[in-house]
Amino acid sequence: MDELSAVIVPLQFGEAMYEALRRLKALNKQYAPVRVDEELALPIYSETASLHSIEIPYRIEKVMFEHSPPSLNPHQQLKEVIQGFIPKGMEHILELIPTKWERLDDLILFPKEAFTQPVWDGIIQEKNDFFEQIAHVLQGRRVGRQQPIANDTIRSSQMELLLGDSGWVEVKDNGLFYGFDACKVMYSSGNVTERHRMGSLNVEGEVIVDAFAGIGYYSLPLLVHGKAIHVHACELNPESVKALNWAAEKNDVLKSITIYEGDNQSTLPQLRGIADRVLLGLLPSSEAAWKPAISTLKEQGGSLHIHMNVEEEHIEKWVEDTIKTCLTYAESEDRDWHCTDQHLEKVKWYAPRVRHVVLDVSFASSNSAS
Ligand SMILES: C[S@@+](CC[C@H](N)C(=O)[O-])C[C@H]1O[C@@H](n2cnc3c(N)ncnc32)[C@H](O)[C@@H]1O
Repeated sequence: MDELSAVIVPLQFGEAMYEALRRLKALNKQYAPVRVDEELALPIYSETASLHSIEIPYRIEKVMFEHSPPSLNPHQQLKEVIQGFIPKGMEHILELIPTKWERLDDLILFPKEAFTQPVWDGIIQEKNDFFEQIAHVLQGRRVGRQQPIANDTIRSSQMELLLGDSGWVEVKDNGLFYGFDACKVMYSSGNVTERHRMGSLNVEGEVIVDAFAGIGYYSLPLLVHGKAIHVHACELNPESVKALNWAAEKNDVLKSITIYEGDNQSTLPQLRGIADRVLLGLLPSSEAAWKPAISTLKEQGGSLHIHMNVEEEHIEKWVEDTIKTCLTYAESEDRDWHCTDQHLEKVKWYAPRVRHVVLDVSFASSNSAS
């Protein structure tokens, strides 16, 4: 117990005073308020002038306070709420409660195995507000379960919506707005470092081709933060095209982006010789687009950002081979360029021993090198 200054108010003003002190940052939350007969004592840091702005009648006294109990973290809260649904004798299933989830807007997104074990079926059927309660305790309104990224070219997501009517989410990252239907479009939170790296490049005045634009995770930072003059964005998935249009409008860059819906094997050849920089953000490999991507570079050269999943021990060899391949493609375009690896970014682990890497390759005319 510790003796502290306290604001004392009649019980009926307790809640309003708690809020007022909290807003003034005067409330000492490390200690628990104490009821003394028909009054409430609220611990404060010190008697400051700002308290005079409070219109509720109060007095200040020294009071003995106990430390507040530690507040439950979201994992404990989730466990506690689920514990309330579980019949006696079945406590062993508490071990199956997911320990990870993501938040997208007000959607709580669990991993693909969450609540799929047969033992949950009866509980979920019986307790028909099971997911409402989970959303509530995690301060969300919708609940989803991630499905494996579909093995199709558009890497369409298959999120299953467990609570809510729509998968449309709006998120803000690095000062930019993105919106997409999480049931239909893939989202990877692991690419955050690469998104921010793209946003920190100085590309003022550059023309950029984004060969796999998705919902604009790289195009938008390059336009808004990097001040690129224009982005030509190629995208196959109509749902991502919708999302990209939405984000371009929301971030006020609609005029600086041209979207080419369809396979980049047919859209990239329309962009011959116009780009300073090309993004090749497709996993596990973007190799099929390297040749048409190189043909979009300006005559004086430019750079590529090549994404790839590579086994850790083969990264060095892959860099060497990639540079050789790029050079061959440049020669087949009749470009007299030399080609250098500028930087290798290790974005994340994709699988054990396999990394998602981005190789920045620069092309310049051989004359300018001498
Ligand atoms: C890794 S995802 C999105 C990456 C994107 N930079 C983002 O995070 O928003 C790759 C995207 O490439 C698109 N895509 C795949 N193959 C394509 C192709 N041949 N032509 C155009 N887009 C393609 C997919 O639909 C998907 O949206």
